[in-house]
Amino acid sequence: MKEFKRYLVTSALPYANGPLHIGHLAGAYLSADVYVRFMRLMGKDIVYICGSDEHGAAITMRALKDGSTPREVVDKYHALFEDTFKKVGISFDIYHRTSDPLHHETSQEIFRTMYNKGLFTEESSEQLYDPEVNQFLADRYVRGTCPKCSNPEAYGDQCENCGSSLSPMELIHPRSVLSGATPIVKETKHWYLPLDQHEAWLREWIEEGTFEGEFSHYPDEWKNHVLGQCKSWLDGGLQPRAMTRDLDWGVDVPHDIPGHEGKKLYVWMDAPIGYISATRQWAKDNKKKWEKYWKDEECQLVHFIGKDNIVFHCLIFPAILKSAGEFILPYNVPANQFMNLEGNKISTSRNWAVWVHEYLEELPDKVDELRYCMIKNMPELKDTEFTWKSWQDANNNELVANLANFVNRVVVLTNKYYEGKVPVFDEDLTFTGSNGEEYEFFESEMLTLHDDLQELCEYVRKFDFRSGLKTLMDISTKGNQLLQYNEPWKLVKEDPESVKLIMNVALQYVCALGLASRLFMPGTSDKIQALLNLKPFTEKGELLKALDKLSEGEVLLKAKHKIGEPLHLFSRIDDSVVEAQIAKLKAPQEQASTSSSEKKFKPMKEEITYDDFVKMDMRVATILTAKKVEKADKLLELTLDLGFEQRTVVSGIALYHKPEDIIGKKVTILANLAPRKIKGIESKGMILMSENEDGVLNFVAAPEGAENGALIS
Ligand code: MF3
Ligand code: ZN
Repeated sequence: MKEFKRYLVTSALPYANGPLHIGHLAGAYLSADVYVRFMRLMGKDIVYICGSDEHGAAITMRALKDGSTPREVVDKYHALFEDTFKKVGISFDIYHRTSDPLHHETSQEIFRTMYNKGLFTEESSEQLYDPEVNQFLADRYVRGTCPKCSNPEAYGDQCENCGSSLSPMELIHPRSVLSGATPIVKETKHWYLPLDQHEAWLREWIEEGTFEGEFSHYPDEWKNHVLGQCKSWLDGGLQPRAMTRDLDWGVDVPHDIPGHEGKKLYVWMDAPIGYISATRQWAKDNKKKWEKYWKDEECQLVHFIGKDNIVFHCLIFPAILKSAGEFILPYNVPANQFMNLEGNKISTSRNWAVWVHEYLEELPDKVDELRYCMIKNMPELKDTEFTWKSWQDANNNELVANLANFVNRVVVLTNKYYEGKVPVFDEDLTFTGSNGEEYEFFESEMLTLHDDLQELCEYVRKFDFRSGLKTLMDISTKGNQLLQYNEPWKLVKEDPESVKLIMNVALQYVCALGLASRLFMPGTSDKIQALLNLKPFTEKGELLKALDKLSEGEVLLKAKHKIGEPLHLFSRIDDSVVEAQIAKLKAPQEQASTSSSEKKFKPMKEEITYDDFVKMDMRVATILTAKKVEKADKLLELTLDLGFEQRTVVSGIALYHKPEDIIGKKVTILANLAPRKIKGIESKGMILMSENEDGVLNFVAAPEGAENGALIS
């Protein structure tokens, strides 16, 4: 473990194109926040940086969908993010934004430096262009039919139906999202970062932990899944990547560079530079030197991100930093995996999410409960799942039954027996251990407390926040056991001296819990500090001091110190709260937090062979008669003319089609389906229908000019 003079921590800049959900929190913000709070409590010189990512197609697409401007979009979400992060207690030293002029300046400087050093290559390529609005089209601005699965709504970069990554040129029948026009192909020139030329040193840096021959970091401290992703990118061979785009929203390519007209920086070039711009702003505001954090080997840089950002932070941004020169590289990138929700992937477009600002509105006094549950379930090494039930259980069985219960009992008993004063005990008292030997009970308890806190610190230092939190709760469990085992409420009559000792120990535990909970649940830490009538744990170095005291056998809370009144730290959560949240989640899309015109598709069925397919006998037929089936709202009884015969089919289309409207209609039918009795009527075959997202059924039209009985194949 290398000690540094300074520490710089970043959380991924969230795209200002939609609200934050719990997956974001668990991914890149709570993790960093715990780490930073810990380092501050250990007395480190640490700066925690974040801000809104306000450029790129993510923003302009949102503006297009909402009928607003990119500026309005980023202003709206930037304000929402600031408020949300503040309420959740994410303790940034600065929350900046990439639309700030200082950021434009910073990223242009870096671009210019790289340009002047000749570290870009210039390449022409063919790109789709909308001839009606005279604009090049970002990948997401082109939609068309997927060449792999025929989904007609695939995006230029990806098909959401089959999951393939695509390039816009591959789409069949491409169309511009802006005008609906068919795009034309046009040549354009861009500046590329030749990542292929960076491959060798990146590999050495990642695998050996050395940079330009010097120590950089210990690769075995990196998470396996992060190393794995990096290696697979490197093994696949890095390709040059364009660092500019033809766009009208973003950071301009510096105007002193020939050919800059109409070109902006690629959002993944400008956004990470946002970390530097934010640090510059912070340094200005606090009379510090930003270079001490970005250009000094004595500073440790750590990026907290979600796993979808690994390539950008471990390969592309380092290549930019090295090219620009003089910058340090990240010491670690402890990326988290994803958090799923109630059995499904979190999806913004399908509104399958718990939106943090909504949680805060609906459950404003349950912030630490959320933080606790998120940290407990943090997807540090693998994907995890949030359920409202697990949130309730963690609260009721752990926060209430363990932590709140312990703290409350100690405070109540101290007030009851000792007028709220930390009891003085007889130092000569000895205890007999289970092995029959006498030992110093107080000292041994303080040492245990020290070791437990030390262990908690080690976990957090290693980015194992789940284990850190577990250790905190284990300290509380031990406190409860101390009371449970000694039963001071019984012992107080016969052996009041021993009870003073036990209660003193219990109070030290409460104090330690108050301090350590500051990393994970700052609101709870404040409450414990108030219960103990202490001045606020100011963070800077406080945990370090406590560890020192405990290791020297000193107490955290002095004897005779007057504590405060009891106060409930947590209260039970009823089933009704959980039920209401689940009902809200499952409610139809109307109350979507982000309006969305994106369609969802049923998953593809499993592959079949040609032989499976030819077994189906599909024919053209005409509906001769149609009537409702009694006591079945959805069913129609139809007679069909198949040319060679007439037959009866029962079809579940009554909600969408009236009998009188469909008589005479030419349809398609699966004719060799085994007959089935439906509501007592024998149905022979099935009419082919398509089903929309909202469940509406439409007839699969019969081929034009086809006669009844014609075989479809
Ligand atoms: N906005 C990106 C996302 O949400 C993250 C940007 S991180 C930065 O995935 F490094 F570019 F800032
Ligand atoms: Zn597809």
